[in-house]
Amino acid sequence: VTPGDLDGKRIVISAGGTREPLDPVRYLGNRSSGKQGVALAEAAAARGAVVVLVAANLEVPAPEHVELRLVSSAADLERAMNVAAGDADVIIMAAAVADYRPAEVRADKIKKDDTGDTLVLTLVRNPDILAGLAAAKKPGQVVIGFAAETETDPDRLLGLGREKAARKGCDYLVLNRVGWTEGFASERNAVRVLDSRGDIVIEASGSKMSVAERILDLLR
Ligand code: C5P
Repeated sequence: VTPGDLDGKRIVISAGGTREPLDPVRYLGNRSSGKQGVALAEAAAARGAVVVLVAANLEVPAPEHVELRLVSSAADLERAMNVAAGDADVIIMAAAVADYRPAEVRADKIKKDDTGDTLVLTLVRNPDILAGLAAAKKPGQVVIGFAAETETDPDRLLGLGREKAARKGCDYLVLNRVGWTEGFASERNAVRVLDSRGDIVIEASGSKMSVAERILDLLR
């Protein structure tokens, strides 16, 4: 790594996992820790980039030398990303965004006395923030997405990644397997990065920081 090789590049990174409110005290969430996104932000800043970190419920401390924008729900994240994307050279969507949110956010706490033994929740689709950012891409902007999949078969995993890279319209897609013990909370990661044609341009495994450095090498 050459310190300064990303000098002055404006990089917007989302990290963490969204929380979709159900009522004033509850939410639907996911197990993303934010570690990979935070490692990207820290490494990019160390290499001279001007970093905006859009952080959703991080379980790790945010790095220094980045501009932090705190969000919670997918709707918050979308607003913050759209604002920050305006003058960004690079956009990296490392956050785990809820695909669905409760159709209704109750003003008061849901009480079991009122709902009985079963409670049925109606969920509605959230917009695909990454696809929106890729569709609104400015000339020269680079958009990078992530795909966390539980598929264990490497070929099928690659197929899912290729399909996603095409569907989302991003320039690069970072593909990694997640499970109960892999990916999200872990200190390590193993990824394959696909370009917009679905070709593998990076295979990297190791600490989330070393994986971050490899991904950032694409931007030099
Ligand atoms: O479709 P899937 O959730 O697997 O796609 C993952 C990628 O898309 C990640 O980069 C994630 O940040 C992004 N995403 C998004 N908006 C959503 C769902 C996912 O931007 N509603």
